[in-house]
Amino acid sequence: MAEIRFDGKVAVVTGAGAGLGREYALLLGSRGAKVVVNDLGGHFDGEGQSTKAADVVVEEIKALGGIAVPNYNSVTDGDKIIETAINNFGRVDIVINNAGILRDKSFANISEKDWDLIQDVHVKGSFKTTQAAWPYFKKQKYGRIILTASNSGIYGNFGQANYSSAKLGLVGLANTLAIEGGKYKIHCNVIVPTAASRLTEGILPDIMFQQLKPKLIAPVVAYLCHESCQDNGSIIESAAGWATKIHFVRGKGAVLRKSLDENDIKPEVVRDKWQRITDMSKAKRFNAIQEASGNLLEIIEGLQDGTQGDSEFEDTFKFGSKDLILYSLGIGASVTHKPDMRYLYENHEDFGPFPTYFVLPGLLLSMGSTLVASALKHTQVDFTNILHGEQYLEILSDLPKNGELTTKGEVFDIMDKKSGAAVVTNCNSYDQSGNLIVKNQSTTFVVGAGNFGGKKDPKSGVVPILKNPNRKPDKSVIYKTSLDQAALYRLSGDLNPLHIDPNMAVMAGFKVPILHGLCSLGFSVRAVLNTYAGNDASQFKAVKVRFSNPVLPGQSLRVDMWCNKNEKRIYFRTVVIENNKEVISGAYVDLKNIVAAKL
Ligand code: NAI
Repeated sequence: MAEIRFDGKVAVVTGAGAGLGREYALLLGSRGAKVVVNDLGGHFDGEGQSTKAADVVVEEIKALGGIAVPNYNSVTDGDKIIETAINNFGRVDIVINNAGILRDKSFANISEKDWDLIQDVHVKGSFKTTQAAWPYFKKQKYGRIILTASNSGIYGNFGQANYSSAKLGLVGLANTLAIEGGKYKIHCNVIVPTAASRLTEGILPDIMFQQLKPKLIAPVVAYLCHESCQDNGSIIESAAGWATKIHFVRGKGAVLRKSLDENDIKPEVVRDKWQRITDMSKAKRFNAIQEASGNLLEIIEGLQDGTQGDSEFEDTFKFGSKDLILYSLGIGASVTHKPDMRYLYENHEDFGPFPTYFVLPGLLLSMGSTLVASALKHTQVDFTNILHGEQYLEILSDLPKNGELTTKGEVFDIMDKKSGAAVVTNCNSYDQSGNLIVKNQSTTFVVGAGNFGGKKDPKSGVVPILKNPNRKPDKSVIYKTSLDQAALYRLSGDLNPLHIDPNMAVMAGFKVPILHGLCSLGFSVRAVLNTYAGNDASQFKAVKVRFSNPVLPGQSLRVDMWCNKNEKRIYFRTVVIENNKEVISGAYVDLKNIVAAKL
């Protein structure tokens, strides 16, 4: 491992007479740097001055065989500190802005002097010292700058309003210096230390004070100052022999208007979307102001072409091979049925999703948000009063095997069925390039939410169920579900306790937990694909079902099918053998081709 050395480099360390600065100076001096040990030598509150602090550290460096000179100026005269470097060593390569003082007072009691002095030493001092070194850095096309911030700035700290504002101000300074210096190989990074020193005595708890040795931070700062460190604009926190990077992130946010009409935005809209505005679960880092503004441009363009308007309910759906396999097991695929291996083994040459897997992005968006509830302001909507009425799924492209889909949902129709309300939601899922991959349309029946004076019939665009042909089924397939079917299926994402918790089942009006309707749908489509499509997922186009009765885990399902070759459509119904009740009605699957149909 090559040793990190600073031979031939000149380092200026401000406030190097004590605490952290002293450790930085000692380490750099021991690694070959010529060091300017700057220190005003005053009290922790900025009063007084003395040459002793700097002199002692210079002697310590020399005693270890290093080269150092003192400088006694205040950092507010930073040009004089750089002058010392140039006069003694003819160059400057590294500036560690470390000098600091405290004037802690609660906000109401901060005098203008306390305010100004803190800003002067921390912000102006860093500005003056760094600016004086800048022309040398630029000319030699090399420089390393450290600015010292503080957790007080990042999180706030009682009694440190003056200090915390100055310390976070330095982060802003570093951000811009990193940009302006980049092309000259001038790197500017920020250290956020926590260490035992006179500044933290009485502030840090005793046990921490003993352990937080300033020496533990010096190697981190030394590396940041080395030519091999390519970071520029990083904020690095370090304490107790630990270090990490800190980022500012921006949430996904919410678009507050439906069009470019500026009158669209009202305080009430902001209030209603506050949860989404402040949701940080999808926060991300932007590396440059241009990236952040680019994101705004996308929003404006989206408003122009109308693609932002329906994004009130939006979710990201990530999946990989394990998710696909778990789902296929959940709908009864089995290694005992050889053709199912393509859905169960990631190394199978045809491995991929069973098509009905893609009911999940729509379902999870509806479940995880207030999509259905947003349609029914007059009633409460929760797990105990909703039933899945109908489902339509259409796949519009090749089935992705992993990745991320963005699903946008909207309430498409609401019907007043007297005993309840039927809410139709459309959820469209897009890939990362914005291509529409999957359409889901669900009808949710909200029990007891009817009689609100709404219309009874669906509007056009609600995909209808279709009557089964009036003849004996062409084919029937029987599948037995297992007693653990719902427990397994729910792991794919539909965690509604109705399907596992006996108490919740009773509250919802069932004797025991029932199977997910979408699980029965998966079993049924398996029967269709096995019978009419060579079990080939890529032949699947769409499915529509109505859920007419519950299925209990352990029951057997008989899928009756009718093939219409011309339409490439398989009509079907699903019946529970144990009670002869139809559980899926008026259903059909559309295929691209009918394969292996033996009629
Ligand atoms: P320290 O008080 O031990 O060392 C600071 C040194 O700066 C002192 O020797 C002082 O004489 C010198 N100094 C003060 N004003 C000066 C001026 N105008 N010109 C030149 N030298 C001056 O404090 P410590 O803890 O080593 O702090 C070093 C830096 O780290 C400071 O900027 C401080 O704000 C920062 N910091 C320290 C933390 C800690 O936990 N110790 C936490 C967060 C930030």
